[in-house]
Amino acid sequence: MKFFIDTANLEEIKEAQALGILDGVTTNPSLMAKEGIKGKKNIYRHYQAICAIVDDNVSAEVIATDYAGMIKEGTELAALDSKIVVKVPLIEDGIKAIKYFSEKGIRTNATLVFSAGQALLAAKAGATYVSPFVGRLDDISEDGMALIEQIITIFDNYGFATEVLAASIRHTMHIIECAEMGADVATCPLKAIKGLLNHPLTDIGLAKFLSDYRKSQE
Ligand code: E4P
Repeated sequence: MKFFIDTANLEEIKEAQALGILDGVTTNPSLMAKEGIKGKKNIYRHYQAICAIVDDNVSAEVIATDYAGMIKEGTELAALDSKIVVKVPLIEDGIKAIKYFSEKGIRTNATLVFSAGQALLAAKAGATYVSPFVGRLDDISEDGMALIEQIITIFDNYGFATEVLAASIRHTMHIIECAEMGADVATCPLKAIKGLLNHPLTDIGLAKFLSDYRKSQE
């Protein structure tokens, strides 16, 4: 299972990378805006800064929503660094763009996926990753994790190479459920990744080991 961090914040990316368990980064225009990055040049530089921190898999989202615009922008993004994965919204021109990039050997991440049908189209078009948004479905009382399971079943049925990238992950249980279901990737906030560390018995056990050690040295 791959772990991506879902942020454009360089300090958080460095912290996750230092843990030694990070496989990539996902960004989106909202996450870039949150970091206050303005203008295409600065945005592209920021992607390069992210690529300098991690080993691979940096999802950079196109802003264009028409086929020609997506091809132009995606080609520019892919040229920034070999670690870039072009993130494309799951709309009609997005499917065409994914097909184009797939034939050019440019990796893609189909984003804003909320149904099995959308995921199936992305896989048929040759997407490298498909990103179902778990948390946003939960937010509207739909079962985000059920969608992950449904997509995994469909991809397994046909042996699609497209990887299921569980996105919009909100907490540690989402990550555990993704792992149980066999999702290829989970992209998570740093807090959820670090949340996996927590267990009170670990803290209590460690305190006891250290106190016994200290006593034995008196
Ligand atoms: C990542 O690829 C997605 O853009 C992201 O996970 C969306 O998360 P959110 O629903 O918390 O904004």
